[in-house]
Amino acid sequence: MQSLTIQTLFITIFLFTFPTSFASPPTIENVFAQCLSDFKPSNPKSPIQNFIFTQQSPKFLTTLNNYVRNLRYFNTTTRKPTAIVTAADVTHIQATITCAKKLSLQLRIRSGGHDYDGLSYSSPIDFVILDMFNLRSIKIDSKLDTAWVQAGATLGEIYYGVANKSNDLRGFPAGVCPGLGAGGHFSGGGYGNMMRKYGLSIDNIIDAKIIDAKGRVLDRSSMGEDLFWALRGGGAASFCVVLAWKIKLVPTPEKVTVFNAETVGNRGSVNTTELVAKWQEIADKIDNDLFIRLTLGASKKTVKASFMGMFLGNSAKLLEIMNVNFPELGLKQTECVEMKWIESVLFWLSIPPGTAPTTMMLNRIPQKLIYLKRKSDYVQKPISRTGLESIFKVLLENENVTMAWNPYGGKMNEIPSSETAFPHRAGNMFKIQYAANWFVAGEEVANDCLSQTERVFEAMSPYVSKNPREAFLNYRDIDIGKNMNSTYEEGKVYGMKYFKNNFERLVKVKSRVDPDNFFRYEQSIPVLSSH
Ligand SMILES: Cc1cc2nc3c(=O)[nH]c(=O)nc-3n(C[C@H](O)[C@H](O)[C@H](O)COP(=O)(O)OP(=O)(O)OC[C@H]3O[C@@H](n4cnc5c(N)ncnc54)[C@H](O)[C@@H]3O)c2cc1C
Ligand SMILES: *[C@@H]1O[C@H](CO)[C@@H](O)[C@H](O)[C@H]1NC(C)=O
Ligand SMILES: *[C@@H]1O[C@H](CO)[C@@H](O)[C@H](O)[C@H]1NC(C)=O
Ligand SMILES: *[C@@H]1O[C@H](CO)[C@@H](O)[C@H](O)[C@H]1NC(C)=O
Ligand SMILES: *[C@@H]1O[C@H](CO)[C@@H](O)[C@H](O)[C@H]1NC(C)=O
Ligand SMILES: *[C@@H]1O[C@H](CO)[C@@H](O)[C@H](O)[C@H]1NC(C)=O
Repeated sequence: MQSLTIQTLFITIFLFTFPTSFASPPTIENVFAQCLSDFKPSNPKSPIQNFIFTQQSPKFLTTLNNYVRNLRYFNTTTRKPTAIVTAADVTHIQATITCAKKLSLQLRIRSGGHDYDGLSYSSPIDFVILDMFNLRSIKIDSKLDTAWVQAGATLGEIYYGVANKSNDLRGFPAGVCPGLGAGGHFSGGGYGNMMRKYGLSIDNIIDAKIIDAKGRVLDRSSMGEDLFWALRGGGAASFCVVLAWKIKLVPTPEKVTVFNAETVGNRGSVNTTELVAKWQEIADKIDNDLFIRLTLGASKKTVKASFMGMFLGNSAKLLEIMNVNFPELGLKQTECVEMKWIESVLFWLSIPPGTAPTTMMLNRIPQKLIYLKRKSDYVQKPISRTGLESIFKVLLENENVTMAWNPYGGKMNEIPSSETAFPHRAGNMFKIQYAANWFVAGEEVANDCLSQTERVFEAMSPYVSKNPREAFLNYRDIDIGKNMNSTYEEGKVYGMKYFKNNFERLVKVKSRVDPDNFFRYEQSIPVLSSH
């Protein structure tokens, strides 16, 4: 009897200390999980135990995988997180920050998981993931002027929610892919096809709720204007966890007009060289209601150009503007499709008109998982016809790479470079995105696609910005610099490319709000003291 009681007592103590499994030794996973469970304050309505996934949890891999968007950073050798906390409450975020700090685990924050180099779910050292997908409420004010959107909301959910609540009278300027998370996408700038009219997402963000390194919940007035400035374009993951953004909604017309004019070789009597040369002259200067993205690539030994456009108005007005400014393209009425703004989101994904917006917009499961690489550049001077033809030659030699040329101008020219942390404003004609996608595993294919991307990027160097060669933070590119030792010098290499003259100010903000450099990753903003 006596010994049984002792045994019961022993089991009770053991279970209390290591609740995840009777037989588990005190591994870092268990200690972390215990720390989370002990955290106060806690919310009895949503106990954190229900939101912790350690490597032993049956749903660990599914949870990890659900928001992996680049297969290059997900295979059997990729380092897995010690745990994933799928926060459903502010106290879960506070607990995760406190316990990660206590156990010296790196924190990776994930909202939509679309980071091109997987930095929200992979790490070279031991780490935990704070996954924000449960925190995705969208609250639109009754006057339809503003909305509070939580970091885990996707663009599709925001677009659909706003269009639905406003009877298609409002939209929001942000990216073209509905799966992007508000957490990462907005804090990196947020670029999309209404940018020439309304600027970036960050130009339409008026408040934020965050949790800082000390676990405090702050908003714009309590965090300080310098931090609010940094969050708009500086990448929030260097500073804090974003819980929610307050966004300013923008009016959308009853009907927008979209088109996709493709050319292989000539279009009418005009060849691709001439069309691209002309596009460079007009794309950043044309009516602010019109956005024309040029995509260049090659297949079967031929260069292909596509001019994909969105006009915030009807097709008659669009054709009038095109006939004056870009008659060479010979855009026809039959190529123009009028639709609601919410439907245009699907058009940009090449989904046939008529598909119900709800299904695609609210779907969190991607159509297809791929391996990918992205890079970026900025062009400030028109590229000569000779230059264009040599670029086409390079594309013909590297058929697995495409380039998207996204026009700036309009509202982008009106906003000073120092207004937000995002620096690439007036003076930029267009931004390039280099893209290679592949669908099969294996080093050989990967290395081929990666080296093709490097070759095209290298060949473009005479035509793009220099000293620094500028890059867009949302088009994450780990190859432009890594900060493995958290030094100022290492950080400056990519920091100047992403942020230009805003880099030093970001370092100051970082040093004020996170002097111990808790919020760090391969391309985070360094602190001043490590000078
Ligand atoms: C298919 C596809 C299409 C894209 N299209 C566009 C486009 O049209 N326009 C454009 O501008 N970009 C585009 N991007 C790039 C995209 O904007 C960035 O990858 C963006 O960071 C994604 O945000 P996320 O929350 O989905 O990503 P995540 O991978 O979750 O996060 C990206 C970064 O933000 C940090 N972060 C995430 N959530 C938080 C948070 N709550 N608090 C603090 N830090 C956080 C992460 O730690 C990481 O550093 C595209 C990417 C993909 C894969
Ligand atoms: C596996 O993923 C890692 C990154 O996590 C990458 O470096 C490696 O090349 C990948 N291996 C294969 C075979 O794809
Ligand atoms: C909004 O959503 C509701 C419910 O799904 C639907 O019945 C309604 O038709 C939608 N309205 C608009 C304008 O999209
Ligand atoms: C394209 O057309 C221009 C004249 O309109 C011509 O000079 C040029 O050689 C052509 N380029 C190609 C690749 O055919
Ligand atoms: C690369 O492009 C070539 C030529 O278009 C094609 O045959 C090949 O399948 C592509 N490779 C990948 C990995 O997509
Ligand atoms: C980072 O520090 C390690 C040792 O701590 C050193 O071996 C390595 O060279 C450093 N890397 C850089 C890029 O300075």
